[in-house]
Amino acid sequence: MKTKILESNEENIHIAAGIIRQGGLVAFPTETVYGLGADALNPDAVGKVYAAKGRPSDNPMIVHIAKPEDFEKLTPSLSPVVRKLMEAFWPGPLTMVVRRKPEVPDVTTGGLDTVGVRMPDNKTALALIEYSGTPIAAPSANISGRPSPTRPGHVIHDLDGRIDAILTGGDCRVGIESTVLDVTTDEPVILRPGIITKKELEKALGLPVSIDPALLQKRPAEKGKGLGGDDPEFHPKAPGMKYRHYAPKAEMVIVRGRRDAVEKEVERLRGENEKAGRKVGVILFGEQAFAEAAHDFFADLRAMDECGTDLIIAGALSDTDGVGFAVMNRMLKSAGYNIIEV
Ligand code: TXA
Ligand code: MG
Repeated sequence: MKTKILESNEENIHIAAGIIRQGGLVAFPTETVYGLGADALNPDAVGKVYAAKGRPSDNPMIVHIAKPEDFEKLTPSLSPVVRKLMEAFWPGPLTMVVRRKPEVPDVTTGGLDTVGVRMPDNKTALALIEYSGTPIAAPSANISGRPSPTRPGHVIHDLDGRIDAILTGGDCRVGIESTVLDVTTDEPVILRPGIITKKELEKALGLPVSIDPALLQKRPAEKGKGLGGDDPEFHPKAPGMKYRHYAPKAEMVIVRGRRDAVEKEVERLRGENEKAGRKVGVILFGEQAFAEAAHDFFADLRAMDECGTDLIIAGALSDTDGVGFAVMNRMLKSAGYNIIEV
């Protein structure tokens, strides 16, 4: 398939919207990461997304809307909690999991009776959804298992030849995917951490918000068994959180502990491996530079793969529930929970 690479301008966004309406696939920028979009209400179109990404079909997609009013087409009713969160965070990197209406096809929700919905904070994304005249289902625009794409080159690398079009639009502002919040229960639960944190959600709601216990699990992955290995307690509620994810081609290890000890161990490992003839890449963010870490992490992994790195050594970020915690969630998966404690 020949993929059209389109700059984000009015004319091209209309062309891309035409492709969506006809059941085709278009990758587009959002403020978090690039998405791979299809008409969320057209089961054939959504089916093609799974095929293009090589994505397991039990993993539901996030449905993107352009106006708050569109939310009511997807869910039977909007609770006061949902209304408050829309007011506080939309457009923006917050996905809300709500009951779905029967109009939302099974293939979009992976057969669940809920649907994840968000309104992205990106002009191109909002225009594409509006011109398409339909909500757009979009997972991240990478081959399944690879780091999420935060620059147009990443999308072209993974999906050129596999989809109808790519709308390019520069670097993504946030760099990690949206916070996924289940609002179907009395106390909202964070299913995937993101740049919108537990504290910010609690402040906006005046209510406690919890974190899916599966996200706090420390148990390492075992080969072929997915994250959590045999652990019967490991049942993340967002199906996507159980797969090996974000994996670079290089071997990767995380060094965790006090800052000075981490720096020392990173240098020791670098020296030892370079001596052995391996190409080593180091990812060490400033101690509190969590937003910068979010912005750069996936791009750093891809850049290191591009230049043939054999081993990536990353310093852990110490944060229990904020933006650093969200980056650590991705870092642990990228490294397959390969950690050295110092
Ligand atoms: O920032 C983002 O959210 C990006 C951009 C493109 O919007 N999208 C994204 O989609 O990251 P994806 O498919 O890569 O991740 C969606 C996550 C998965 O972990 C999935 O299991 C979870 O959201 N999810 C979606 N719908 C759900 C539902 N109804 N119940 C529980 N988890 C759901
Ligand atoms: Mg993804």
